[in-house]
Amino acid sequence: MSNPNTLAGLLRKVEPLHTGLTINDVAERLLQPEFKGFLSLPVVDGDGRPLGLVSRYRLQDIFMQRFGRDLWGGHPVQHAANAESLVVAMDTPLDRAASIITAQVQYPITEDFILVDADGRYQGLGTLMDLLKVMELRGTQRNRVLQRALRDLKSSQAHLVQSEKMASLGQMVAGVAHEINTPLGYVRNNVQLLQDLVEPIMALAEAQARLGACMADPEVSQEQLEAALLEVQQSTEQAAPEYFAADFTPLIEDTLYGVDQIAELAVSLKDFARLDRAMTEAVDLNECVANALVIARSALKDKVQVVTRLEQLPAITCTPSQINQVLLNLLTNAAQAMEQPGKILIRSWAEEGQVHLSLQDNGRGMPKEVQQRIFDPFFTTKAVGEGTGLGLAISYKIIQEHGGRIRFVSQPGRGTRFLISLPIRQAAPAQPLDLQRSA
Ligand SMILES: Nc1ncnc2c1ncn2[C@@H]1O[C@H](COP(=O)(O)OP(=O)(O)OP(=O)(O)O)[C@@H](O)[C@H]1O
Ligand SMILES: [Mg+2]
Repeated sequence: MSNPNTLAGLLRKVEPLHTGLTINDVAERLLQPEFKGFLSLPVVDGDGRPLGLVSRYRLQDIFMQRFGRDLWGGHPVQHAANAESLVVAMDTPLDRAASIITAQVQYPITEDFILVDADGRYQGLGTLMDLLKVMELRGTQRNRVLQRALRDLKSSQAHLVQSEKMASLGQMVAGVAHEINTPLGYVRNNVQLLQDLVEPIMALAEAQARLGACMADPEVSQEQLEAALLEVQQSTEQAAPEYFAADFTPLIEDTLYGVDQIAELAVSLKDFARLDRAMTEAVDLNECVANALVIARSALKDKVQVVTRLEQLPAITCTPSQINQVLLNLLTNAAQAMEQPGKILIRSWAEEGQVHLSLQDNGRGMPKEVQQRIFDPFFTTKAVGEGTGLGLAISYKIIQEHGGRIRFVSQPGRGTRFLISLPIRQAAPAQPLDLQRSA
């Protein structure tokens, strides 16, 4: 079987013309039905090496001259051959041959091309038409392969989006667990203190109840009454009810504050991790900022002071869980860019049909080489295991799919500012990152 990657499959066995023949002989031969499909015929020397191709076009040229046939018809055939004809070795890979041939082909196309063996001896002819057909077929096949590769790529990208989401969820859950622990710790402490505080009060209440019972009993003895009174006195000393309110009220207030904090975290977590990826109408981006800040609190609090200047924004249509994911990525990056305690300034404002969110940090900034690549998937300057390099690539995709833009400016040593702009009304129906669809 011939190698499908070489020209062998295109070879057409055509008897070559020998130098003994005349131009007239060739003209007659070209009229024969077996040569119908050929634009030209090859001429070879005594060793079987090609001297060129004689084309119908060339013959026509000769015979159309006045007395052309009489003047030239008896000349040896090689006089009419084009010595510059295309000669291609048969073992040339098909793609390479195609590029050689298409680079050299002359218009109008008047000739075929000659195929030779490794020694340069004539083997047969190839036609441009056959070559084009084969290349078209290969193109279609390659297209199919490319399409499949594209499909695979899309689906693995979708998986990456999912795993980045899971990774950031994991990070977040750890942060939130830590966040819940603090209020939970003092709520528990307070409850313990309240218990200690309430126990003597309960003892006092019981003593008073017993004293009341004694007093109501007509048969009670003097000793019993005195004992009940003494018990009440002692319990009162222990419980010190005059101080009770001063101790009790702040403890209760503190406890309620802690419980509210836990509730706030639970709500943010729920909003943040919303599994539905549907676009939601009437989203206030400032709420997304507040949400992301609650979630990122434990990552930020030791070293980052967050200042917000949020202007009132019109509600927009977006997928809040995805916007939250972007904000968490930007906040985490900013915190990670700080070698010492620093500051993040978050601003929001609306103008000309868009809402803008700017996150500015005074971290280490980025040199030009890093700036050029930050949106590339897997580009990270962080240590192995610390960063996947997907945060910004995914953020970019999310903002793009919302019909918005994400831009940044950065100065090494001074800091970085990211700017997200989202349309208030989306021109086309927004396209959420739909795993099913993009897979
Ligand atoms: N605010 C910033 N200041 C300085 N460098 C930044 C900042 N944000 C991003 N970068 C640079 O861009 C790179 C890519 O960021 P990206 O969020 O895509 O990945 P990562 O943070 O390295 O990893 P991952 O987000 O997956 O944990 C970072 O490694 C960092 O070098
Ligand atoms: Mg990141």
